[in-house]
Amino acid sequence: MKLRRTRSLIGYWHEGEFVLEDYLTTKSSDVEEDNAVVIDETALLLLHRFDDWTDPESVLDALPDYDPESVREAIGALAEAGLLHTPEQAQREDHLAEEWANWNEEARFFHFGTKDAVYIGDDDEHRTAAAAVALESGPPPAVFKSYPDAPRVRLPRAFLPLRRDFDDVLLARRTHREFTGDPVTLRELATVLHYTFGPMYFVDAREYGTLMMRTSPGGGARHEIEAYVGVLNVEGVAPGLYHYNVEQHALELVDPDFTAQDVDRLGFGQQMAVTAGFVTFLTALVSRAAYKYRHPRTLRMILLDAGHLAQTFALVSTATGLGPFQTAAFRDSEVEAALGIDGISETALYLIGAGHPSGPVDGHPIDMSVAAAPR
Ligand SMILES: Cc1cc2nc3c(=O)[nH]c(=O)nc-3n(C[C@H](O)[C@H](O)[C@H](O)COP(=O)(O)O)c2cc1C
Repeated sequence: MKLRRTRSLIGYWHEGEFVLEDYLTTKSSDVEEDNAVVIDETALLLLHRFDDWTDPESVLDALPDYDPESVREAIGALAEAGLLHTPEQAQREDHLAEEWANWNEEARFFHFGTKDAVYIGDDDEHRTAAAAVALESGPPPAVFKSYPDAPRVRLPRAFLPLRRDFDDVLLARRTHREFTGDPVTLRELATVLHYTFGPMYFVDAREYGTLMMRTSPGGGARHEIEAYVGVLNVEGVAPGLYHYNVEQHALELVDPDFTAQDVDRLGFGQQMAVTAGFVTFLTALVSRAAYKYRHPRTLRMILLDAGHLAQTFALVSTATGLGPFQTAAFRDSEVEAALGIDGISETALYLIGAGHPSGPVDGHPIDMSVAAAPR
């Protein structure tokens, strides 16, 4: 029977050995597995001969200097290790290649490679064991980030009432792309930042110290997401780029020269970001999550956390009368450079923002007919 090199293989060095991992093979959710196999140069070259469907006997013919039996055995070992597949075994990877054709290898490894993690329950036994490992690595990372030497704007705690009916807010939320140009008021900005990112409660998380609770859920209450505000047109706040210090409810100046032109560049010229009253870059402070969660699946948790915060941001903005937007399209590395973060210990995830909407505010889709005839 013909064999083919498994299509879902990623190679990397692990503890001094070169391994191939089949990221598509289902793993156990009960024990840690990575489906990685150590492989040497000869085996790699042999594997290369099975780039497409190949009869093993034809490979023996192509390698006359080798003992045919030893080559046969090596091919058998590669198949046994899951590095060569039969047509039947290859159905799933062919399906993947078809369905995920528009995305590259990185997306596949990212998603499938981090699937099927072992659930670390939060019962006393698991918790104590996990906390012991964490504490051994050093003290817990700070819950709050701050720029102690930066000039700061203390935001008012005179929050606007969020008394709109909840169903009304849900229905009125839309992505806004055009704004009136009227400045966002200080109270509007303060209200949105406070209810989206501010600590609402504190809890004693024992070994992990005191943790904050936000209006959005956050995996393990690690709350690794930080917010940086690009002030473009806010009453009473000088334009510039600020870090939102959630503990002090203050804006800490990162770059006074940050302007709408920078947003234009960073956000690929998307006008909604350029004309908004303010934009907010969400970043993840990796160590805050990684300290407790030591499995790569945590990356998924972090992305979900950013989504929760963005939704809360959109709803609070709507409730205060602002029009929110969000975009995943921005120049990651340039954003990180602008924020002064290294992209490794802290990495940019999301660009959101708000302004006074110039279109309808009742939730009716702008420039879209309500329904279309079936095609
Ligand atoms: C993760 C994410 C990324 C988005 N990226 C963009 C974007 O790059 N540009 C844009 O104009 N809208 C973007 N949007 C907004 C969507 O186009 C919008 O949510 C969708 O059209 C539905 O409209 P609604 O938000 O008004 O319900 C994004 C939304 C999400 C959730």
